[in-house]
Amino acid sequence: MSQAATAVEGERVGRCGDPCVMVIFGAAGDLTRRKLIPSLYNLAKYKLLSREFAMIGIARNPMTTDEFRAKLVADLKEFVDGPVDPDLQEWFERQVFYIAGEFADQSTYQQLKEVLQKVDKDLATHGNYFYYLATAPDFFGPIVQRLSAAGLMSEENHQWRRVIVEKPFGRDLDSARLLNQQLLKEVDEKQIYRIDHYLGKETVQNILAFRFANGIFEPIWNRRYIDHVQISVGETVGVEQRGGYYDTAGALRDMVPNHIMQLISLTAMEPPISFQADAVRDEQAKILHAVQPLSSEDVLTRTVRGQYGEGEIAGQHVPAYRSEPGVPPDSRTETFVAVKLQVDNWRWAGVPFYLRTGKRMASRSTYIVIQFRRAPFVLFRDTEVEKLMPNQLVLHIQPEEGIALRFAAKTPGPIMRLGTVDMDFQYSDYFGKQPSTGYERLLHDCMVGDATLFQRADMVEAGWSVVSPMLDLWKALPPRNFPNYASGTWGPKEAEDLLERDGRHWRNFEQ
Ligand code: BG6
Repeated sequence: MSQAATAVEGERVGRCGDPCVMVIFGAAGDLTRRKLIPSLYNLAKYKLLSREFAMIGIARNPMTTDEFRAKLVADLKEFVDGPVDPDLQEWFERQVFYIAGEFADQSTYQQLKEVLQKVDKDLATHGNYFYYLATAPDFFGPIVQRLSAAGLMSEENHQWRRVIVEKPFGRDLDSARLLNQQLLKEVDEKQIYRIDHYLGKETVQNILAFRFANGIFEPIWNRRYIDHVQISVGETVGVEQRGGYYDTAGALRDMVPNHIMQLISLTAMEPPISFQADAVRDEQAKILHAVQPLSSEDVLTRTVRGQYGEGEIAGQHVPAYRSEPGVPPDSRTETFVAVKLQVDNWRWAGVPFYLRTGKRMASRSTYIVIQFRRAPFVLFRDTEVEKLMPNQLVLHIQPEEGIALRFAAKTPGPIMRLGTVDMDFQYSDYFGKQPSTGYERLLHDCMVGDATLFQRADMVEAGWSVVSPMLDLWKALPPRNFPNYASGTWGPKEAEDLLERDGRHWRNFEQ
């Protein structure tokens, strides 16, 4: 098999990030050590991080810069794939600084301003700053307001100032709108980078390449040929240590308006006129606006919610959601959701989009199934063929990364019998495995000012509009049958019924 050329370690594969300082609010947290630090290291390794780069961590925890540097080294060793390059580590250590301070205290921002000025002078970072808000969501608005009050958001003399806002962006449509208003009062939309880490995944970005860099799929990518679309995001983990947060959110808020809406919009969008940020985001936004709002009746018939009971995952007994740390024993929070949506436009009218996501499911796997309409049966009328299986194209997002096309083939022998076969492409066969946390691309994009893979205000609000009717009705009618699925299964039976009523079935992948 011929293998495509890939980036050689240390080879630069794109434009280097601008000289800049990254300021992480919440620098003592898990996201910083598990994702952000390894991503910066990987970017440096691939020569995509400017040598004139610095990072300032801010958190409440009392710590000196030296202690922060020692922690960084430990985090690199723990979370970077493979051995850490000693020269790169040494360089990295010199570029980082720490400020212990309260996010709500204006003096923290004065201190930040002084450190930024010094870093600019010593490390030639050109006065370009981006702030990463890896904090509890309550701080998003106040931090930006205080940065702005300290003059740290204003762009002058060709210096840029940007802010990356983590999820959750609001907990419903009203709070998302309010947060947008708070941010837009202080800064311009083009300075705001609302992150959705799903867009950092190679396989999610590949949906665009697959659809628009190939001539053969687009002509059949519509209601004439496609019967329905399924999106499954299964996780085997429970709520881990996040019971407190999760119980106030639930599966719908946690996964649907953000990650799953990204998958829907990339799968369904029209070809953009270019890959400029707004050209792509305009098309995505149109899909989000075209998702038919669910009436109360629809919520009752087209949505399913579930909560996991105890069960078995990989041969291990696991507890019920209600027994997880931080979760009340009578919790009514859903850990599973399945929905049937319609995208109301010419391309997709009448093609259902079924989606499901849940914790403690039978397998950890995220994939999109495009099921095509059946071929007419006519040709096989007088043969022993009982039924024709529909063609399915499966975009595997994770942990398997690839694309498979399922079609019918004649099974060998004197009689005309059909079997189903798969044509399989695996990313790793062609491109090998590159160490990546999924945040490299997003951080780099922010450093070069490319907002294509970040959410605009209108997109976030459109995502919340889709789930609003569900949130409202589910709140008004609390579930009575929780827990209603055993850990290690594909969710409650009602989720199977949702498709079976339409004569369809979920495609399940066991890993
Ligand atoms: C997060 C959710 O946004 O995404 C988590 O809050 C979820 O509950 C996670 O586990 C899934 O991300 P990934 O990259 O593991 O699919």
